[in-house]
Amino acid sequence: MDPDFWKARWAEGRIGFHEGHANALFARHADAFAGKSRILVPLCGKSEDMAYLASRGHEVCGIELVEDAVRAFFQEHSIEPSVRKTDHATVYEAQGITIFAGDVFSVTREDVGAVDALYDRAALVALPAELRKKYVAHVRSLLPQGALGMLVAFEYPQERMPGPPFSVDEKEVRSLYAGAQVELLEEAAANEHRFAQAGLVPTERLYRITL
Ligand SMILES: C[S@@+](CC[C@H](N)C(=O)[O-])C[C@H]1O[C@@H](n2cnc3c(N)ncnc32)[C@H](O)[C@@H]1O
Repeated sequence: MDPDFWKARWAEGRIGFHEGHANALFARHADAFAGKSRILVPLCGKSEDMAYLASRGHEVCGIELVEDAVRAFFQEHSIEPSVRKTDHATVYEAQGITIFAGDVFSVTREDVGAVDALYDRAALVALPAELRKKYVAHVRSLLPQGALGMLVAFEYPQERMPGPPFSVDEKEVRSLYAGAQVELLEEAAANEHRFAQAGLVPTERLYRITL
């Protein structure tokens, strides 16, 4: 999507994707990250999942296009981050949480540093089909082989609602992550307001992916 699309959504407070609490499906399986030290969270918004991961002893490395969302995350947690600029992003950092304010596609493995896990909730599904392959390839380039990914994705009849979030079914997840081990851990009905308005109850699925 055009960066202006996301900037406008944050500026106008149209952030129905923001759950305001840790994702319930993920929280039931968060032990899968036991022993993982630093978790990459692309397209992180101001997700509470980052605070949840930090509360479980992980370091977090988020990447978010809209700098106001990054500032909001730290403000809402009453944390004063340090701020520095790299060639590719402005980096906010405090208490084991680093968030790169910038385009995920511009952030390099050198910028990110060592990470050993991936958490993707509403990131892959935020991107249109033509960008998803590029996104997965890029995210994989930021992680070492064998890293563990936890992915939360939705499936619903795409013709009933324009994305984002887009519908990404299990077949597409397996195709995008070809070569990795993909395991469906749990699925549930997503009874969210933004879908309900369109008369939809999508299926929300949590996958464990070993890269
Ligand atoms: C649907 S939201 C999900 C946010 C978060 N993962 C959550 O669960 O609340 C997608 C986020 O990705 C950000 N975004 C979109 N394109 C991006 C890009 N190219 N690089 C970094 N962030 C991007 C948007 O600003 C938005 O905050």
